[in-house]
Amino acid sequence: MNPLKDKKILLGITGSIAAYKAAEIASSLTKSGAIVNAVLTPGGEKFITPLTLHSVTGRHASVDKDLWEGEQHVTHIELGHNSDLIVIAPASADFIAKITHGFGDSLLALAVLAGHCPVLVAPAMDGDMYLNQATQENIAQLMKRNFQIIGPASGHLASGLVGVGRMSDPQEILGAIRYTLSRGGILKNKKILVTAGGTQEAIDPVRIISNRSSGKQGYAIAQAALDLGADVTLITTVTTLPIPYGCKVVYVKSAKEMQNAIFENLTDINALIMCAAVADFRPEVSEKEKIKKDGSELLLRLEPTEDILLEVAKRRYEYTKLNAVIGFAAESENLIKNAESKLNKKKLDMIVANDISGKESGFESDKNQACFLFPDGSKRDLPLMGKDQLAELIMEEINKIIIKQ
Ligand code: C5P
Repeated sequence: MNPLKDKKILLGITGSIAAYKAAEIASSLTKSGAIVNAVLTPGGEKFITPLTLHSVTGRHASVDKDLWEGEQHVTHIELGHNSDLIVIAPASADFIAKITHGFGDSLLALAVLAGHCPVLVAPAMDGDMYLNQATQENIAQLMKRNFQIIGPASGHLASGLVGVGRMSDPQEILGAIRYTLSRGGILKNKKILVTAGGTQEAIDPVRIISNRSSGKQGYAIAQAALDLGADVTLITTVTTLPIPYGCKVVYVKSAKEMQNAIFENLTDINALIMCAAVADFRPEVSEKEKIKKDGSELLLRLEPTEDILLEVAKRRYEYTKLNAVIGFAAESENLIKNAESKLNKKKLDMIVANDISGKESGFESDKNQACFLFPDGSKRDLPLMGKDQLAELIMEEINKIIIKQ
């Protein structure tokens, strides 16, 4: 489910040097299947041409001339009414002031006045202009009216100064757009908890025992759940992957920390997707100081970790809203047999058996080959596919399980 597909997005571009980044936003949205109508204010036109926007969106990019000289005298109303989302990126201090006070002195300002859809505003200006009380009060007013404000970020400014006022990164704005358009999806008001990554069990303050899990599949599931409108919490050991926009995140390291984080967040959860590769063993003793090498061999005694899913199964009666518990089985041999036994032992509603023996599928790859197994003995065997695509199919099944309850 791609929340951007066929969505009409009015991309407003106002007078700021960050206007050049609007081309990237417009291009990414278009590639994702959105219908992008770019509208430039006279200030915006000074920084980027309508032709650039036309080229990346494949659609006419409007300017004030269209308002006064166009064949249709209601361009502004049409643009405002027909949009699923209005995004002003970059939004200058002047334009923010205009929409706060209802001015209609440009095609874009008129379209905002006429629109019924959510409006997302990405401020971009010099730090002093942003921190000026007038701008701050205007932004506060807009927030009160449910306009969504993204950023601004801190960093190098066009004035040569360093401070707050840079337009948020296009990737963050794209994330916010995707998130906003996904609200109201079929999993609206449902709460999903996803775990991702391999746990790390400390041998000493320097060394750990871990596994090859990259976390990519778990992050893709979190994104797929968000795309369906769910509220998503991600419990992860991975710090190198971007967090999907709108996802609540809890960072953990060990199996014990992951278990604690799960039970702290499990109240009101509708589905738990246990994608993390939780260590099955940890060092019996985690040394306080770094173990020195002295030429002799080192023997590590390992003890079993807590099996989180078994604990969840034992305490499931406490969590009345928990309708779906999904496990993963990553195996290098006897995949289906091992997965079936885990499905039953851990009392799961579904297990995703994924073969890690293939060259292209499994831990660090962007692809995965899986089979879904259900308690009634039914199976869904899937071909090799992208982890994003598999995540969508997993969410499709979870939705069915939730609806059935
Ligand atoms: O390690 P194993 O193959 O048993 O993992 C199967 C499922 O159980 C996975 O979903 C994993 O996240 C979960 N698991 C767990 N607690 C453990 C080990 C695994 O919940 N200690």
